[in-house]
Amino acid sequence: MKVLKVICENFVDAKPEVIKWNSWDGEHLRTVHGAYVAPIFLMRRSGDGLFVDRFKIPFLPLRVKTLVFTTQWDNENQISFTLTPFFIAKNTINVTEIRAGHTRVRVTYEFSGNWFQSLLFPIYKIMIKKWNKVVWEEDLPLKLRRQKALEYGFVDYAGIPADSVDRKDRSAVYKCEIPVPKTAGIQEIQHPFFTERD
Ligand SMILES: [Fe+2]
Repeated sequence: MKVLKVICENFVDAKPEVIKWNSWDGEHLRTVHGAYVAPIFLMRRSGDGLFVDRFKIPFLPLRVKTLVFTTQWDNENQISFTLTPFFIAKNTINVTEIRAGHTRVRVTYEFSGNWFQSLLFPIYKIMIKKWNKVVWEEDLPLKLRRQKALEYGFVDYAGIPADSVDRKDRSAVYKCEIPVPKTAGIQEIQHPFFTERD
């Protein structure tokens, strides 16, 4: 078995819990990212999630079925395993606050394959770096907006306090809830197998 490992790093002025929220918010996948065509959750519970999707291969006119299992391994590391018809991929998102309010997001992508499949590794390496850049840029406004909203005292499904004296900075105390609270009736939870435990 051969393994390709590619590490990509990005930095953002936001707290680690905001990054975690962005990673665990399944509802943004379809609307924000070009590659996730129709994510459907099968299971969500504290620290774990499983979904299927028809995934658009980056930079190619191809869509493939994928099964993605994600787990919050520890406070700083989220691990996902993705099954596609071509490979199994593992990606680890390490989130580290390197100074107050400034966070490094290091994603380690790993692909496994036999000798024959490994012939495609050089192509995967080029594609995954481009993919990381595209996904990072698609997500960045969400991270910055949530960070700013928390600084104004934003609470999910309650909003920002109407009175300015009540707008206390919550960004330092905010903890990302997993599963992330979802909107009722969304199409992502319509599968008959959908199972959830808070
Ligand atoms: Fe995203």
